[in-house]
Amino acid sequence: MHQVTFAPTYTAWSAAARRALQHQLPPGAIHWQELGDDQPPLALFDEAEGSGSIPDASATTRFRVPKAFPEISRAVACHRNSDRWALLYSILWRLTHGDPQLLQIVTDPEVAELFHMQKAIRHDIHKMRAFVRFREVPYDDVGSWFVAWFEPEHHIVELNSKFFVDRFASMRWSILGPDRCLHWDLQNLSLTEGVPKSEAPTEDRVEALWLNYYAHIFNPARVKTRAMQKEMPKRYWKNLPEAALIPALLQEAPRRVETMISQSEAKNIDELEWRPAQPPATRDLVELRTAAAACTACPLYKNATQTVFGEGPDGAEVVFLGEQPGDQEDRAGHPFVGPAGQLLDRALAEAGIDRSRCYVTNVVKHFKWEPRGKRRLHQTPNSHDVAACRPWMEAELAALKAKVVVCLGSTAAKALFGAAIRVTRDRGEFRETEWAAKTLVTVHPSSLLRAPTEEARAEGYQAFLSDLRVVAAAIA
Ligand code: URA
Repeated sequence: MHQVTFAPTYTAWSAAARRALQHQLPPGAIHWQELGDDQPPLALFDEAEGSGSIPDASATTRFRVPKAFPEISRAVACHRNSDRWALLYSILWRLTHGDPQLLQIVTDPEVAELFHMQKAIRHDIHKMRAFVRFREVPYDDVGSWFVAWFEPEHHIVELNSKFFVDRFASMRWSILGPDRCLHWDLQNLSLTEGVPKSEAPTEDRVEALWLNYYAHIFNPARVKTRAMQKEMPKRYWKNLPEAALIPALLQEAPRRVETMISQSEAKNIDELEWRPAQPPATRDLVELRTAAAACTACPLYKNATQTVFGEGPDGAEVVFLGEQPGDQEDRAGHPFVGPAGQLLDRALAEAGIDRSRCYVTNVVKHFKWEPRGKRRLHQTPNSHDVAACRPWMEAELAALKAKVVVCLGSTAAKALFGAAIRVTRDRGEFRETEWAAKTLVTVHPSSLLRAPTEEARAEGYQAFLSDLRVVAAAIA
């Protein structure tokens, strides 16, 4: 076994590896021994030659390797894993001993390990570029020196030095770290031993500005916590001044998003006219209906004829929840009496559900419409309308404690399940909600009336019936 002792740099290793190849030493015959500790010597772009126990053979021997290999091995040489040298030599040996296409066999365990290490280095280089934060310290009476602290996972500081010189050529700076420190004085780049973190400055006058800026550019509606932590792993947070803001910003995000949504919807609404309804604290449906008749919690009452509250027996086993009363319901003061209601009645009868055991109501209790000639055209309620009216719906559901709740259409489904529910995808199956152990989503009967062809109407109706039969079976 040959022991090769060498400075742990790419140049020293490649010189020693060349000599080993010249002597036809197979990978298993070499023990790669790094000089000193596992730190490369302080030499930028490592001009140090390796000192091996293998004498130089013919200097004229040349080895052919794929074009990519020197660059890959230069990167992998920066990995902290001390097995990297043996791995590099083994691959070099195979490349030069009958396997010149080896790097293309990505399933080969050694090749896979090589690329894995290369990827780790690329990742570390990227993190250093993204997370170095300079702090300004006074220097030389007139000027400033910018100092950063960065702890790389691998020995990538030298590899990254050109990037920082190019990017910050007009500043004097130092990037301090536990292994080594990099310095730029406007002319020369130099490397010194690592220092303890206590040597890095902790605050500067631009920091307050940066924190303020970061808090402003933080978009609460685009928070993806897992993606953010993947991109900015927690191990870097301690050196990022803005990271201290993140927990509070994340905690605040849902509230800020709600405000953003309501502000954008408030464009057409006098926001002062909107507030959550306040039903009396009772489970008595007659009392609730009476109180709702005078509701002015949102502006819809102004254009509607009256409040259309839910109807049905106190002990109803099934609640059908629609969107809002239509034109006919608004005039009559009763829910589901127009064309959609008539279709619902027909389907209930056909599915074998006794209408007198059902309570029918709506998420929004006033008719929302806009004039179109002489007609009053239905308008879908927005989230303000739904939020204002919601307490009435909750009071009804809490009073009834029905065995089954059926959401007719998207507005009702979203009111009970949230925005992620999809009627076409999620229909016809019971799910548990706080309002009923068996809550089911199906289409709104008015969507069947709007179907473009007779055939589509018939098909939609049959699908609606089959959802209702699930309900019929549950209360049979
Ligand atoms: N559409 C509904 O959602 N509810 C009614 O009461 C009538 C039509």
